[in-house]
Amino acid sequence: MKPSILQLNPILIPAINERLSALYTVHRLYEHEDKQALVREIGGTIRGVISGGHTGISNDLMDKLPALQVVAINGVGTDAVDLAYARERGIAVTATFGALTDDVADLAIGFLIATCRGICSGDRIVRAGLWPSHPHPGAIPLSRRFSGMRIGIVGMGRVGRAIATRVTAFGCPISYTDLRAMEDLPYTFFADLQQLARDSDALVLAASADKAEGIINAAVLDALGKDGYLVNIARGKLVNEPDLIAALQEGRIAGAGLDVFVDEPHVPASLRGMDQVVLQAHRASATIETRTAMGEMVLASLAQALSGQRPEHSLTT
Ligand code: 8YV
Repeated sequence: MKPSILQLNPILIPAINERLSALYTVHRLYEHEDKQALVREIGGTIRGVISGGHTGISNDLMDKLPALQVVAINGVGTDAVDLAYARERGIAVTATFGALTDDVADLAIGFLIATCRGICSGDRIVRAGLWPSHPHPGAIPLSRRFSGMRIGIVGMGRVGRAIATRVTAFGCPISYTDLRAMEDLPYTFFADLQQLARDSDALVLAASADKAEGIINAAVLDALGKDGYLVNIARGKLVNEPDLIAALQEGRIAGAGLDVFVDEPHVPASLRGMDQVVLQAHRASATIETRTAMGEMVLASLAQALSGQRPEHSLTT
């Protein structure tokens, strides 16, 4: 009999879904209207769960899956899983480390250029047929040069480092903050986030959100200043969203590029109405190439755990 797994979010790569279905009895929770009823009915049979980084798994759901051996996160963020609790129960929690680094870093660069150069607001002017009503190109407000901007990176893991490599090519001086300075990096380290913000023209968030909720608050945004930009390709909850909205509304920072939000998929209406903000729907890893690589890692983690091995990318076993 094929082992049963519970999938909490869709995977958009048909070849990965086919292989999952060939190997496992896959219960796709997101397709069910009455999710509690499904869990009651099949919970006792479930040996593996697949979930997204943002979704994770609640302790309550883990409790309803007594045969659970592995939670394969189709992402790198494990902030939505109680790792200590999983460890206590001997459940392997795995993630797709390394698979999405380049795509996430690429989107950070996209946001930096799009916000500084007004790419999306410019697109809106052209689409709305408003260009002719500007008598000459100079009538459209000038934008801000990206090359050479001082970039401050919050979180120097794989993604932070990949962003640093990319912005180096644009001649940008780089500083960063993390739990500690990293000897192998040639960039300026600030232990203090406000000091990093004060010394940067753009702050890029690439930190894990496990213990960093709300670190981007009014004081940090004021230190970034009225000509500063914020880019977030990590987790919405790193930012105090009301503080960010107020700073943007009052012109206390210049703009923001946001892929992630506190209450996804709900984005505050005030942010949606702002021209100086570029928004995406948590898409940083959403390319065919990366999602295929992530799917392969999920398949490998399930296979390893369900054959009694310790999964290579387990954080808890
Ligand atoms: C994914 C993420 O969008 O890696 C993460 O932690 O949040 C994202 O890359 C998500 O996990 C897709 O399921």
